[in-house]
Amino acid sequence: MKLLATPPDLNKIARPNWIEINLDALCNNIQFIRSQIPASTKILLPVKADSYGHGSLACSFAAKFGGADYLGVAHISEGMLLRQYGMDLPILVLGPCTPSDFAYFVEYQLTAAITDIRTAMAFDQFLGETGTECKAHLAIDTGMNRYGFDAEDFNNIRAALSLKHLKFEGMFTHLATADMPGNPKTEIQIQRFTRLVDVLEAEGLRPEICHCSSSAGTLTHPESHFDMVRPGLTLYGYNCMGAIPTTLPIKPVMKIKSTIRHVHDVKPGETVSYGGYWAAQQLTRIATIAIGYGDGYLRGEYNKGFVFIRGQLCPILGRVCMDATMVDVSHIPDVQVGETVDVVNGELDFRISMESVAEEHHTIPYEITSRVARRLYRKYYWKNRLVRWDYLKEEFGVKDFKEYPLR
Ligand SMILES: Cc1ncc(COP(=O)(O)O)c(C=O)c1O
Repeated sequence: MKLLATPPDLNKIARPNWIEINLDALCNNIQFIRSQIPASTKILLPVKADSYGHGSLACSFAAKFGGADYLGVAHISEGMLLRQYGMDLPILVLGPCTPSDFAYFVEYQLTAAITDIRTAMAFDQFLGETGTECKAHLAIDTGMNRYGFDAEDFNNIRAALSLKHLKFEGMFTHLATADMPGNPKTEIQIQRFTRLVDVLEAEGLRPEICHCSSSAGTLTHPESHFDMVRPGLTLYGYNCMGAIPTTLPIKPVMKIKSTIRHVHDVKPGETVSYGGYWAAQQLTRIATIAIGYGDGYLRGEYNKGFVFIRGQLCPILGRVCMDATMVDVSHIPDVQVGETVDVVNGELDFRISMESVAEEHHTIPYEITSRVARRLYRKYYWKNRLVRWDYLKEEFGVKDFKEYPLR
């Protein structure tokens, strides 16, 4: 086999499955959230898990352009990556930090979430010994019971906020049930947080940026807005209240596309795909499309859901395979190999929206977007044009950083 001396740029090789990331939609959604909150309230875009699978570099830079004030990641490595490419918005690492992270927080100018007093004191000591500084937000547990200081642990909260070197710019909590209308827990959590904010205010210890709400809280509980909101799902354009069409002027950021690879007919009595869970009742024209669970498309259910071809719904037949899914195209018999398939595109039809596809599989839109596999190519819409990453990099002034630091 004769290989080229330099490997080809695999990004230039056509791929049968891809996602389209509409960065204009992201900016539109930022503007919508902006219209729902007081002018002084900041917007944090969660870009953790590679922006829920939408691509954290492109989304972060577009969000900066679109008016986001802060970015949120889960792990320090995600924040470091953004800094390495030149992102200069403040970045809050929402997950707990450990002593081995301290130096990186300082070097990469990331904001740390502090979840317990031991870490707070160890970090403060580190900063004192090294003569350095770091911004932090105090994580408060008001009922999610995931991590953070207990909202009534006033002694430790005061002790942390009074530390000399760790600069507590903010304090936050996370609501567990805001997407369940009428669930009393949401109000209880907001009340606990509000009480703490008031106590600290009275004592002159209130951090400048108090925040509480992700998407559902932001939209349904204005009293939870405080100084910043963190609405991930809404900013990515999906309905946080479930698979019901939303009247909000938000637009989905991700579309998932595939290609027809094969078209054939199956006779009555023949079954399709692993396990033979779908059997033809009559002669049926099948299109085999290139997407499968190896691309992140969910396998859980069989004979469930649709894709869209030439503006028509085509039911999925049998099990989704690793690299293929079979669909019924009997009603559009002249479909051709190579044609584009809309796998997820809420703008075309709600039945193939991210919310509906998630519900078919008893999951949530977050899981579908964040599982999209790396082998799918990303195309970006920016200023109403479909562009490639190379163009965006120039447009956003993203630093050329050759080494991909995470393996
Ligand atoms: C701490 C925190 N803030 C904000 C968000 C964003 O939530 P949503 O995407 O539901 O708005 C999350 C999501 O997991 C989170 O863990």
